[in-house]
Amino acid sequence: MDGFLELAKRIANVVRGWDDVVVVGHYDADGITSTAILVSALEQMGKEVRFINLKQLYTDDIERIQDMGEHFIFADLGVGQLPTLRRSFGKPFVVLDHHQIPKGEDYPLLLHPHFFGLDGAHEISGAGVAYALARVLTGDISLAPVAVVGAVGDVQLVRGALTGYNRDVVLRDAIASGKVFAYRDLALYGRASRPLPYMFVYSSDPVLPGLTANEDAVFDLLRRAGIEYVREGVWISYVDLNEEEKRHLFTELALYLSRAGWSEEKIAKLIGEVYELTDEDLHSPLRDVREYATLLNACGRHGRPEVGVHVAMGDRDRWYSEALKLLHEHREALRRGIEWVEKYGIEDYGNFYFFHARSFIPASLVGIVAGMVYGSGIVPPDRPIVGMAYEEEGFVKVSARASSSLVRKGLDLAEAMRRAAAHVGGEAGGHRPAAGARIPRGAEEEFLRELDEVIGEQLT
Ligand code: C5P
Ligand code: ZN
Repeated sequence: MDGFLELAKRIANVVRGWDDVVVVGHYDADGITSTAILVSALEQMGKEVRFINLKQLYTDDIERIQDMGEHFIFADLGVGQLPTLRRSFGKPFVVLDHHQIPKGEDYPLLLHPHFFGLDGAHEISGAGVAYALARVLTGDISLAPVAVVGAVGDVQLVRGALTGYNRDVVLRDAIASGKVFAYRDLALYGRASRPLPYMFVYSSDPVLPGLTANEDAVFDLLRRAGIEYVREGVWISYVDLNEEEKRHLFTELALYLSRAGWSEEKIAKLIGEVYELTDEDLHSPLRDVREYATLLNACGRHGRPEVGVHVAMGDRDRWYSEALKLLHEHREALRRGIEWVEKYGIEDYGNFYFFHARSFIPASLVGIVAGMVYGSGIVPPDRPIVGMAYEEEGFVKVSARASSSLVRKGLDLAEAMRRAAAHVGGEAGGHRPAAGARIPRGAEEEFLRELDEVIGEQLT
């Protein structure tokens, strides 16, 4: 980790000499927070900054963005395109990334955890890498809370908690800044902004047998725990409960799930570390870090990443109300996506589960839907899941997701997707448990056959 900091310092020295800077970030929650951190830091330093967030740094994007400014920082993307950037990008640039590095690639201004024994899938996200540089540039730890949102948004939690650099530097600074507190609690989604019963009714990761999608059973459970979920005429949220109420509720929940066949171990996994932002309103979708990350994802995935960047930089006004609308749309689109997959979707492709949503699911959501299908138990996590949807201009978007136990058995989706994509003239990248690709339309069958073969090899 010392080497990582040394390199961050060296890169900071280069960036200090720049004044006209373009931050090019990925468009998901991790990329949006990375961008917000860097733009804030550079603005603090009095530099002129512009930013843009992209789905991926595809070859055509590299040309398109060249004229935006004099100096470039790529954040949460770029490492997969390093050969192209080095060959043909005409401007000075820095790459801050945590995605898998195609073999043999290096670059003096690449800050990447891989070279320092850090795991870019679980120990540091793009936001952590951006924060490492921003912290050297400004010494400002008030940017750390946003990096916590990035790490959680990148699904980096291990056994329910941040680890590695995410914990030792990012979370530690975030807590020291006074803006974050972390504690162990029932870690269901919506604990801050959803009415208490609906935290259970809508729970999809995990599905709570008998409770998910069953209002009456949830109301009964809450009554048995002695909890009034409407107080003075308004729904309360989980975060409104006091310690004793939380304890009673968990006891009843554990009893219920154990009768439904859940092991003690599985029940215990419902408890995880939760992260709250103390400056946000108790019921705001920005209060709980997981909900905050969803809001940023909603902005990016619905074509408005800049809205998320402004929110992450502190706007709680016009941009924020825009973000709330996008969040609403996002939820609706995901709900429709899951419904579609459940109804028409899943095929058994030998070494993985497969669905092709064509135009029924937007390309930008197919990865999230694939992950949710997995988390919700529509398919068991014994094999990876691969989803496809049409992208514009004759391309197909591919997203693959897998459980960590498959990764331990040797699965590497980033490598598998790269090999299969290369086979049909596509582009791919990502991490062992989560990877994406873009391939030409019509090449699906050939791509799938190759992918099936590579995954088969990896898992034997
Ligand atoms: O797009 P999707 O959500 O499926 O991507 C999963 C992971 O793979 C992300 O971390 C994304 O940045 C990465 N990816 C990549 N190159 C691509 C597509 C996805 O590095 N062409
Ligand atoms: Zn990332």
